[in-house]
Parts: sequence; C-alpha cells; structure tokens
Amino acid sequence: MDEKKIIAALIAAANENIDAGMVYDALETPPDRKMGDVAFPCFKLARTLRMAPPAIAAGILEKINEDKLPGMISKVVAAGGYLNFYLDRGAISKATVDEITELKDGYGRSDEGAGKTVLVEFSSPNIAKPFHIGHLVSTALGHSIARIYSFLGYDTVRVNHLGDWGTQFGKLITAYKLWGNEETIMKDPINELLKIYVRFHEEAEKDPSLEDDARANFRALENGDPEITRLWRFFVDASLKEFDRMYKLLGVDFDSFAGESFYTDKMPEVVEILKEKGILEESDGAMVVRFDDESMPPCIILKSDGTTIYATRDIAAALYRKRHYDFYKNVYVVGTPQTLHFKQVFGTLKKMGFEWADDCVHVGFGYVRFPDKAMSTRHGDVVLLEDVLNEAVAKTKEIIVNSATSKDLDNADLVAEKVGIGAVLYTFLKNSRERDIIFTWKDILDFEGESGPYVQYAYARGCSVLSKAQEAGIDYGSGDASLLTSDEEYNLVRMLSSFRDTVREAAARFEPSIVTRYVTDLAQQFNKFYNTCSVMKAEEEIRKARLKLTACAAECIKTALWLIGVDVVEKM
Ligand code: ARG
Repeated sequence: MDEKKIIAALIAAANENIDAGMVYDALETPPDRKMGDVAFPCFKLARTLRMAPPAIAAGILEKINEDKLPGMISKVVAAGGYLNFYLDRGAISKATVDEITELKDGYGRSDEGAGKTVLVEFSSPNIAKPFHIGHLVSTALGHSIARIYSFLGYDTVRVNHLGDWGTQFGKLITAYKLWGNEETIMKDPINELLKIYVRFHEEAEKDPSLEDDARANFRALENGDPEITRLWRFFVDASLKEFDRMYKLLGVDFDSFAGESFYTDKMPEVVEILKEKGILEESDGAMVVRFDDESMPPCIILKSDGTTIYATRDIAAALYRKRHYDFYKNVYVVGTPQTLHFKQVFGTLKKMGFEWADDCVHVGFGYVRFPDKAMSTRHGDVVLLEDVLNEAVAKTKEIIVNSATSKDLDNADLVAEKVGIGAVLYTFLKNSRERDIIFTWKDILDFEGESGPYVQYAYARGCSVLSKAQEAGIDYGSGDASLLTSDEEYNLVRMLSSFRDTVREAAARFEPSIVTRYVTDLAQQFNKFYNTCSVMKAEEEIRKARLKLTACAAECIKTALWLIGVDVVEKM
C-alpha cells in the first residue's frame, strides 16, 4: 500500500494547477512524529500559484476537509507552510499486513520492467589467471543487481565476459610448449598455468626471442590454427572448472559465458564502421579514436602490429549485445580502476552514432582491504578465495556448535554453510559500492553487530515463534492487524511498507547496499518489537495479530536477503 500516492492524489485534487507526481516527490517524513506521519511543504507551489505557502496550505486543507478523508488518514493540519498528515495507525497496519500476508514472497515485486531487457555483465575473471577478490566482489554485486531487476519484472541476462583472449595467450602457449605438462596442470590448473606464465616473463627478459614466438602463437590462435586452438581450449576448460566450484558455493549462475574470444570474428565490422565514419586516426602506427574532450586519452582500436585489443573487443561486444538482446540497459559490474576504459568504449560507440551508448552503464566498486595480517599476505590467489569461503563456513560452524542455543542443530553443516557464505556476501554488499570494503573476521561474523548472521538470526527467531504457534495449534490467519498500533508494532509495519521503494531505489542506483541497509534496519526493528511486545503470552486477539506481523517480517527479511544473494535458515 502506498499512502503517499493517496495523499498526493488528495492534494492534487484540491487545485487543478497542482501536479500529483510533483507532490508525490515532495512529500517528506517529519522529523518528529508529533508533527504527523507525512508532510507536504507548500513552498514549491508558491511560484506557480503566486501565493504565500501558509495561504496555500490553508486553501488545500479547506478543500480536503470538504470531502471525507480516506480511512487511513485520521487528520490533516496546516502548520506554517506545511500540511501535516496524521495516519490512522490501525488502518495502515491492517492494509500493510494484509497485503504481505496475501502476496507472500511476491510482496514488493512489480512488473514495471515487463518487456525490457537488462543485461548484467559480472564476475568476468581471466582464464589461466587467479580469480581475485575483485572478481568476487563483482560476482556478489552483479548477482544481486540481476536479482533486483528481475524482481521488478525486467528480463535479465547474466553474462560472464570471460577474459579468454589477448596476447597473453600467445605467451602462455609459448610457455606451455617449453615447460608445460598436461598432467601437472590438470591437478592444479590455475596455479600451474600462472607458474609457467610468470616463468615466461622471467626468461623473456634474458631471451627476447620468446616474445616473438609468443606473438606468432597469438597470431596463429587468431587465425584458428587447430593445435594452438586445442591448447587454448584446454586452458579455458581447466580454468572454468575451478571457477565453477566457486560459483556453486556462492549459488551464482549465468545465462551466457560469451567472453572476449566470442567477439574475435566480430571485430572487422567495428573497424569497418569506424573507417566509414572517418573517425579512425593513425597515431604512432596504431589506429585510434580521438575524443572532443581533449583530457580524455584516445581509444586504441588496432595496435601497430594490426592486432585488436581489449577495448576493440568491448565495442564489438556492445554492438552484438544490442542486436542480440536489444537491451534496455547494458550494465558492466567492474572495479573503478576501469572507469576510463568504459568511458572510452561508450564514447567511441557514441561517436559511431549509436545513441544507445547512453544505456550502457559502468557500475564500479572499490578495493577490498584486509586488516587481518594473515589474509593480506596470501590474498589474490584463487585457492585462497575458496579458502576464504571455506574458512567463513568453518568459523561459523565453530560459533554455532559452541553456542547454547544452537549446539543441538541436526543440520549444523548446512546452517554453517548458508550463514558463513551469507556473511561474506553481506560484507561485500554492506556499504556503497564505490567505498573500499574492510574485511575482518571479527566484523563479518559478529552475530550482534551489523552482519549477515545478525539478520539471518532475526529471521530464524521469527520462524521459531511461528513454529511454536503452529505446535500450539494457533491459527493466526484470522488475526486483525488493525490492533497493531503501539510504537514498536507500528514502526515495524512502516519498515515493511517501505520495502517496495527501497528495491526501486536500489535498482535505479545499481546499489545493492540499499537493500542490505534496509534488511539490517528491518531485522533491528523486528528485534525491538520482539523484545518489547510479547507474542505467545499476549491476550488471544493481540497474539494472533502479532503472529501475523511476525510472519510478514520474516517473509520480508527472507525476500530482501534473497535480493542480495543470501539464503536463510529456519533454525540456527
Ligand atoms: N576480465 C576483466 C578483468 O579481470 C574484466 C572484464 C570486464 N568487462 C569488460 N566488458 N571489459 O579485469
């Protein structure tokens, strides 16, 4: 239920020169409840209506009072240049709780995105290189952003733009032919490939002819040489198998793994269009696109040896995606160090005459910092990332088996997995994405602080009350939620009713942290309610109403956690 819409319509109906949409956007929450629940500042209308704000407020009020107030508004007061609306708590509680009870996990969902496709590119690790912590952040963010958009009715396409092409593959093939061994590599693909890749660089310093060999190998790869292509395929498959383990642990999947290699045959067209438009210029043997904004470095399209680069592949990819998916938004979840790269790619597309370049969005994020000494020395290694996740699970298990309330869980391993992984995801999605992420076990697994386990625990608490009620044979379905008018009950109701706006805002800003913040506040509010209002010991009608509210809070926590990729457990 959106009481703001009702209030906006009420105000707009009072004067034909007032626009409901403008009113809606201007509505505020007064700093003090005594001043009402929703306020409309009339100052914005002073110019259009050529009247002083207090007179506008009085005029609107008079009109509003001529008609009967909608049930959920108990009174309206004009104060200074403001119109203050007092809501009828009982009516609001009833409307909100009944709506959630009916819609269940569909509460907050909408179909506003119907018919529009949002492509979310995320994770995008590099083949034969470690899956580093930045890729893990991208994975958490992109997975959540895709869920948020699908929740709002958009068709989403989740793309893993694998780094599976480029001159480094020439080097890797040279190295493999010299020092590689299929068996050793199969046992520990990424570390072994990395080893020979590092060795290539060491040896190439002494023997520059290795570089020539690598270039020749990459050219052979680009020309489809079967033996070289077979080796490349082997590197890709071996790496993917490792990445897959991580995706499984995180519960993440993709609709497409079309990586850089997918676009190799689509690049001549890019060069063709650029030439045709006359925007390809020579610069030191390379071919580049220059921008009107001189502070922006030109975008290199072809290197002096005629090979394409990362940016060329991104331009081809964007073109392909537009044709193939006709996206409404094309979202790139990639760390902020690549901000300039995306500006150049989008700028080039714009110069090519593609207006949809404006629908391409770079969603950047900051670095992960490890104040815990032991972690910082090891970080950046694919095995370590898996270690981080496994360690989170192990540490959670330790906490669980040592706690008085949960030591008798019969599925402690499963609970530890969901809570441990959830704790890591929560941490990545906790603060605005451009801020650095501080990763310490103390905060991540702080069951009392702002953490994943804290929120999951609130959910489990709700479930436990509901199952007690069920055991006692209480059917709270008929509960009357209009009885929920105390501060703790009503504040929880208000939290629940702001869920829809929260999801929308998170989508508009590509910012899952808005959902994380929300679900944390919701869990806190639920705990406040739970600690203040007794549920099972309350008088029968109140008990039913409170059980109904508990069910709504649990439902909403579960949905919000789902949006950030975190699973719930009913007992912990
Ligand atoms: N593979 C790249 C890296 O690890 C990220 C790819 C980002 N996406 C893109 N379309 N360029 O840095």
